[in-house]
Amino acid sequence: MTSDNSNNRKPKVPLRSAQWFGTRDKNGFMYRSWMKNQGIPEHQFDGRPVIGICNTWSELTPCNAHFRDIAERVKRGVYEAGGFPVEFPVFSNGESNLRPTAMLTRNLASMDVEEAIRGNPVDAVVLLVGCDKTTPALLMGAASCDVPAIVVTGGPMLNGKHHGKDVGSGTVVWRMHEQYKAGEISLDEFLSAEAGMSRSAGTCNTMGTASTMACMAESLGTSLPHNAAIPAVDSRRYVLAHLSGMRIVDMALEGLTLSKILTPAAFRNAIRTNAAVGGSTNAVIHLKAIAQRIGVDLSLDDWQEYGKDVPTYVNLQPSGEYLMEEFYYAGGLPAVLRQLGELDILEKDALTVNGETIWDNVKDAKCYNREVIREPDNPLVESGGMCILRGNLAPRGAVLKPSAASKELMKHRGRAVVFENFEDYKARIADPDLDVDPSCILVMKNCGPKGYPGMAEVGNMGLPPKILKQGVTDMVRISDARMSGTAFGTVVLHVAPEAMELGPLAAVRNGDYIELDAQNGRLSLEVSDEELEARLAALRENHVIATDGGYAELYIKHVLQADEGCDFDFLVGCRGAAVPKHSH
Ligand code: FES
Repeated sequence: MTSDNSNNRKPKVPLRSAQWFGTRDKNGFMYRSWMKNQGIPEHQFDGRPVIGICNTWSELTPCNAHFRDIAERVKRGVYEAGGFPVEFPVFSNGESNLRPTAMLTRNLASMDVEEAIRGNPVDAVVLLVGCDKTTPALLMGAASCDVPAIVVTGGPMLNGKHHGKDVGSGTVVWRMHEQYKAGEISLDEFLSAEAGMSRSAGTCNTMGTASTMACMAESLGTSLPHNAAIPAVDSRRYVLAHLSGMRIVDMALEGLTLSKILTPAAFRNAIRTNAAVGGSTNAVIHLKAIAQRIGVDLSLDDWQEYGKDVPTYVNLQPSGEYLMEEFYYAGGLPAVLRQLGELDILEKDALTVNGETIWDNVKDAKCYNREVIREPDNPLVESGGMCILRGNLAPRGAVLKPSAASKELMKHRGRAVVFENFEDYKARIADPDLDVDPSCILVMKNCGPKGYPGMAEVGNMGLPPKILKQGVTDMVRISDARMSGTAFGTVVLHVAPEAMELGPLAAVRNGDYIELDAQNGRLSLEVSDEELEARLAALRENHVIATDGGYAELYIKHVLQADEGCDFDFLVGCRGAAVPKHSH
């Protein structure tokens, strides 16, 4: 880490910002003059790197509501290293408030980021991310431009506390709601956990999607070590933001662009890390989308090949017991990466944003709590990687998270109880006359990318109350939806093609039998090929996907299926950061 003033150092590559601020002519006058209305002195325009701070701050994204403070710490670092920081807002797609789902606007946010970077005088960017979709959206946008970029995550909330016990974001909601439906607790008791669950700034404190994507960013090499787990309100989070601000100035001078970091090896390391931490199924979609933007070929088969047999070592909810606070105190992600390296399941030469390899960053990392980060010979789950399923029900794949599933249901044959969409599910699931027993398989259609639209996190369908009252806590569930990273259960997700695209899921009927064989990666509908084709042919007649204008129509027309990362077809690929024509 250098603290030299960058004015004394020559960039190894031409800086983009010179094409705005570096000319002594009419254009240079105009670009500089309006910036000076913010009180920026002349010497800031002397050719030093201009660092964009891409901020997803919003009071409607409570997980990112503390980001103004973090941005200020980044600026301190940028100034200290001799850079010129400029903060700008991008669409903040917060998980908890946005309807119908923040996934609908992930690509919109990525477009915002991409065009904001390309069109403005920035040489490198700091990506301030936190809530689930903000991490992939900003990485996707920056990857499309292939500029130097460093991720600074907002950090997880402190442990939730309720009635003297630790409670995890989201996970406690799913658990207590099932208890309430089973008649085990009152409504007042259920609602009393609200304030205790979310008692500090930060993101969900379980290994949900936000924490998973923070771990993905760190294992990809796009952040400084320990970025994933330092709690949001821990002063070391500010130190990390400051150091990231310093480092991005050097990255701009070195021309250390994202494509040098986001290599195939980096993605393979992320896949292994996801298994080791018990990460969210959403990472499968987001990593694919990021990889596609930077030009790396990543498929569902890579998850099978590189992740499936990696044990889960991190004992965090929803798969395990603890929360992100304990994870950081136990040594955080560097301790896990060191363990993977010692087991020879880490590609050690992968480059990271600090200019060191991932192994150099973690080889001396310590673990301080073996209950939280388990020893190699005492994993939480033997094979913790994503289980990729294929078969006549999911020709292009489906995903199951073994660490969140029930062992005894990983091989299961059952009668389908079908819901045509989420509304149908909500209308009938509590019906005492619903023809269902614990061995049945709940099937929900039309919750995929085009069907919902936006592929909402509704795949972990709550069980029928009459089943819960029997003391049953899990059933096999299958859909084309996603699932919150904080959720759990034997839940088959991301079935592709989705029902709205008339994938085979659309043809499942009540009473059909389905077999799940997770060990062998099979998901089979026990219906003959002829019968399946006849059902689909009937559905094809007069099939239209309703659209109602606006952004949702653009989304439905261009979104790719889950196995392709749900990106827009026209956004795939790296378009670079060539400077556009003058604006005046
Ligand atoms: Fe924002 Fe979980 S809702 S991180």
